[in-house]
Amino acid sequence: MSKKRLCVTRELPEDVMQRAVRDYDCSLNDTGRPLTPDELLVSVKDMDGVLCCSSDKFDENIIRSLSGSVKIIATFSVGYEHIKIQVAETKGITVTNTPDVLTESTADTAILLLLAAARRAREALHMISSGNWTGWTPTQLLGIQPGGRRLGILGMGRIGCAVADRARAFGMKIHYYNRNKLPPNLEKGAIYHKSYEDLFSVSDFLSINCQMTPETKNLINCNTIDLFPKDAVIVNTSRGGVIEDSALIEALKSGRIAAAGLDVFEGEPNVNTGYFPLENAFIFPHIGSATVDTRNAMGFRALDNLDTYFSGGIPRDRLA
Ligand code: 8YV
Repeated sequence: MSKKRLCVTRELPEDVMQRAVRDYDCSLNDTGRPLTPDELLVSVKDMDGVLCCSSDKFDENIIRSLSGSVKIIATFSVGYEHIKIQVAETKGITVTNTPDVLTESTADTAILLLLAAARRAREALHMISSGNWTGWTPTQLLGIQPGGRRLGILGMGRIGCAVADRARAFGMKIHYYNRNKLPPNLEKGAIYHKSYEDLFSVSDFLSINCQMTPETKNLINCNTIDLFPKDAVIVNTSRGGVIEDSALIEALKSGRIAAAGLDVFEGEPNVNTGYFPLENAFIFPHIGSATVDTRNAMGFRALDNLDTYFSGGIPRDRLA
C-alpha cells in the first residue's frame, strides 16, 4: 500500500522526523520559519494529513480553502486555539492535539519562573554579569519567599495540578479557580474559588494554566490587577492573551504587582517591548515544553494519532 501524504509544517526533533519520513510521504518545510498562509495552502495541497504546530494558524479561511484530500490536522501542541475546530468539524476534518506528555516540563517551567521572579533573578544576573557587583550586603536583592504564601492556580487541569504538586513541596498553600471543582483526590486539600475574582484576591502568587478562550482573554487587566494582594507575583505558561500586557506592564512599573514570570506572549513572536527594560519581568521565549524528552513525546503522540486515524481507528486525542 502506498504511504499516506503528510505535510509537516515545521522541522521537528530528529527522532520524530525520522519516524515521520519512514511512515509517510512527507512534504517538509525547510525555511526554518512558519509558513505564510499562502505557503501553507500550497504545501498542504493534495495531502492526506497535516502535522502542524501552534505557530500555524488554521483559521476559518484556511480551513475552508484546504483541498478535500486533507482529512486530519494533528497539532504538535496541547493548545489548539490556532485551529478553528468547529470549521474543521463541518468539513469532516479530524483534529488532534498532544495532551499529557508536556505536563511535567511545563509545570517545571512555571516553578522556574515563579522562583526567578520572586527571587529577583534578572536583577541578580545583571548585577553579577555586568561586573558591577561590589560584594555581599545584608540587604541586597531581597526577594519574596514562596513558603507559607498562597499560590492561586487559574485553570486546575493537568498542568495546573502538576504546578500545585511542585509548589506544595515549597510549603505553598494552594488555591484554585476552575470551571469545575475537582474531586478530593485531585484537589489534595487545595481551596476552590467559585470566581476568578475571588481567586485573585487571595493570590500572593498566581500561576496561569488555563486554556486561551474568549472567556479567558485579558482576564488579567487593569481592573482585576487591583484585586491582588500587595506584592503579588504573576506567572504565565499558558497563553499570552490571558494577560492584557499594557495593564501588567503598568502594574510592574508602579510596583502594584511585585514581579512577573512569563513564558508566553500575545502576538508571539512579537513581544510587547514594554517588558524589556523591567527588571521585575522575568521573561522566556516560550520554552515551557522545550526538553528533548517532551518534544519527542509530543511528536510521537501526534504521529500515533495520525497512524490511528489512517488505520481506520479513532485517535485518542481527537478534538473534532
Ligand atoms: C509547544 C505549547 O511547545 O503545546 C502547547 O500548547 O504551548 C508549547 O509548549 C508549542 O506550542 C508547540 O507547537
